[in-house]
Order: sequence, then structure tokens, then C-alpha cells
Amino acid sequence: MSRFQNLPLSLLLVAAVSAQSSIAQTAAAPVQLTAEQDHQRLMDTLHITTLRAGADAHNPAAPNAVNYDESKANPYVSLPDPLTLNDGKKVTSARVWWSQRHPELVELFDREVIGRVPAHTPKVTWQVVSTSHDTQDGIPTLTKHLLGHVDNSAYPAITVDIRMTLTTPANATHVPVILEFTFENYPRRTPAPSTATPPPPPPPVPAGPSWKQQLLAKGWGYALLEPTTIQADNGAGLTQGIIGLCNHGQPRKPDDWGALRAWAWGGSRALDYFATDKDVDAKHVGVEGHSRFGKTALVAMAYEPRFVVAYVSSSGAGGATLARRHFGEQLENVAAANEYHWMAGNYIKYAATLTPQDMPVDMHELIALCAPRPVFIGGGATEGDGWADAHGTFIAEVAAGPVYRLLGKRDLGTTVYPTIETPLIAGDLAFRQHSGGHTPAPNWPTFITFATPYLKSPSY
Ligand code: GCU
Repeated sequence: MSRFQNLPLSLLLVAAVSAQSSIAQTAAAPVQLTAEQDHQRLMDTLHITTLRAGADAHNPAAPNAVNYDESKANPYVSLPDPLTLNDGKKVTSARVWWSQRHPELVELFDREVIGRVPAHTPKVTWQVVSTSHDTQDGIPTLTKHLLGHVDNSAYPAITVDIRMTLTTPANATHVPVILEFTFENYPRRTPAPSTATPPPPPPPVPAGPSWKQQLLAKGWGYALLEPTTIQADNGAGLTQGIIGLCNHGQPRKPDDWGALRAWAWGGSRALDYFATDKDVDAKHVGVEGHSRFGKTALVAMAYEPRFVVAYVSSSGAGGATLARRHFGEQLENVAAANEYHWMAGNYIKYAATLTPQDMPVDMHELIALCAPRPVFIGGGATEGDGWADAHGTFIAEVAAGPVYRLLGKRDLGTTVYPTIETPLIAGDLAFRQHSGGHTPAPNWPTFITFATPYLKSPSY
């Protein structure tokens, strides 16, 4: 029999509330470090004294000036083979891929590159905060403003409320949806990284319907997920957000998850919500992101089998381009104090005592982890988007091809780099380099054409 049996409910509630607030009071406050302090702490933990400098995008006379010359781009001769097991044996069947090689690659990416999601992450409870009706290009739409409250009862000093909007054609239910990771509704709270890595300003939006209108015209919906409500986009925030909540406010271990993995985890929680909303066909949801969120979209696709198709835009270093490549942004840039928070702490070793050549994996193998599901990779011209190295992502995609073929799917269909604006969309791996700069906009129509067979639409 409960010892609370004879107490009135109001007293029990008071007891429960004060027990909660005493947890809040007794739990140590999150550790506060600047990004530079946390980065130094990580270097000390890894016994690293100096890091190599990244590519310098500003000073062409610098010894580490950024390289945009294709003839100097490939100092690293060989890539790790996605179809060779750690013990050197070849993977020749889908069975061995799934039972041995796939888990090996996941472990290597978890430990060395992206970081591990904790074994237990808190539950997220989604709430529709408000709805609004609108008309876009003559199509009536319904938008839900959602809040995903993360259970913080284990460490109430940190609150995480994920923000997302979901827009669907008002007159339809059960529609395919593309989930975009974006700053759109919730601009960055901290200034953009200030050192040698500014993305160029995006070019003007092309004429014609926006990507959202293009999706609505097909009878599909879109969701805008705001990553910085899951995890801050800086190193100082690593003891806060979902990463800090899971660590009870303590700094990360070297194989703990970084922001890309945390943001991608939020994408999975968005899918959990879609499965409860009759307006969404949760079995036909794609994922898209540009630049740092292109990296995120790739991680989300690689780790979350419920996403059926991905558009990875200008994802560059730490995304779909190879670390073993000397063009545009370098691993050393991503390992610096303004970007290391995207990755596992261990990643910075490869900008110190080790080199990219020492990495047990490279990013073609992250693309391979998406197999057999379809992936479209895009980027802009070197003039305007060279930092994100579209050509390097193409080479990575080619190198992921053998895994798609092993699983009975079609690769890019060529190893020859296509001329700009040529879509390669006949296979399950797809690519297009658009002219113009650092923007996902010009490739949306091609991506939609590519994605159409994989996303059923009520209008068919
Ligand atoms: C910087 C960074 C890139 C990133 C980009 C962005 O340029 O170096 O890695 O993709 O910001 O997200 O806009």
C-alpha cells in the first residue's frame, strides 16, 4: 500500500513540485566554457599541442591559401574501400554488408568523425502550438507551429524545446513531406564563425516558384526544423542543448556526438511526430539541407533509415566532400574552434598528429551508409561555391557507388565529371553542379524530378 494513500491530492502535488525544484537546485549548473576554452580542453584531453591551420580563404599569398586548382586537388592517392572489412576481407554479399561492414563503418564514424548518440536519449513530446491557413501560388495551405519538448527531468537545469513548422496542402491528407534543416524561422543566435571560413553571400533567389511552392504544386508538404533549438551552433553551447542535457551539463568526451549528429537526431524526432499526424505520409519523407545543414542532411540520411530520399546541398568539408582532397575548405578548418563542435572531438586528431590520410574512413563511406536509399548531391560553381567543393562530392559519390551496386541499386552511372548544369539523375545516386554560388535553389527542380518516383503523391 502506498505511503501517500491518505494524503490529499493538493498536498501530493505540492510535494511533487518541491521535489522537482530541489532537484533543479541541487543539480550542478552546466559547466560554462567559451568555444576556445572547450577546444583547448579537448586538445589537452587528446594530448594535442598544435593544430595545422585550415585553408585561408582571404589571403592568396598565404602558404595555406585555399586551393581552387583542380590539378592540385588530390595529393592523397587512395581512398579506404567501403567494401573491405577491417580485417582485410572483401565484402561480396549484401548479407556481409549488413551484418559486418555496415556496423563497422557506423562504429568508425561514431568514434572518429561524427560522435555517438548516447544509448538513452530523453523522450520528446510534440505539441501543436498554433496553426495558420495561407495560400501559396493559389494553393491553400495549413501550417502547424510545433514545439517538441525534450524530457529534462533527469537534469532540469537545461531545457530543450525543438521548434518546427509543418506546411501541407490544406485540402489533402497523408502527403509526402520534405524536412529541411534551416535557420529560416530562427536565425542564428550567435554570429557566424568569424575566422577564415565565411560562406559567400548567397546569390539572388532565381525567378520562378520557390522550392516550397514547387513541392506544394506536386501535392507535397514541407517542414522547417530549426537545428539551433536542438543544439547551439557553437562550441560554447556543447554543455547546453541536447548534448549538454544528456551529459548533465558536463563537457563532451572525445567520442560524444557533435552538433551535426544532434541536429540529425532532431530530424528523427520530427519523423516520430509525422507518424502521429494524419496530414503526413510518414513513410514518404525526404530530408534536405544546405551547407552546414547539407552536412546534417547527409548524417541524418546515413543514420535514419526512415528517410526515403535526401538532397544534400553544398555540404563541403565535414559533409559529402572527401577529407583526402585539397580543394576548398579543409578538415583543418572544420577542426578549428569555430567549427569543431559539428563533429566528434576525436575528429581534430586528424588536423594534428594525424592527417586525413590516417582516417579509417572518408566521406564516400558516409554516403555509402545511405545505401540503398536515393541520394541527390548538389553544389555550385567553383566561382561562388568553391569552398564547398562540388567536384570533391562527386568523387565521393562515385566511390560510394560499389555499395549501391552490391545492394542491387544503380550508382551515378559515370566516373567522368559532368559539365556544369548536367543532371545525373538516372541512378539511385544523383548529382548536379549548378552555375552560380552558395545556394540550394537552382538544384531544387532537378532534385524534385529525381525524388518523384520515390515519393508517392496523392495527385498521381
Ligand atoms: C562556413 C563553413 C562551411 C559551412 C558554411 C555554412 O563556410 O566553413 O563548412 O558549410 O559556413 O554552413 O554556411
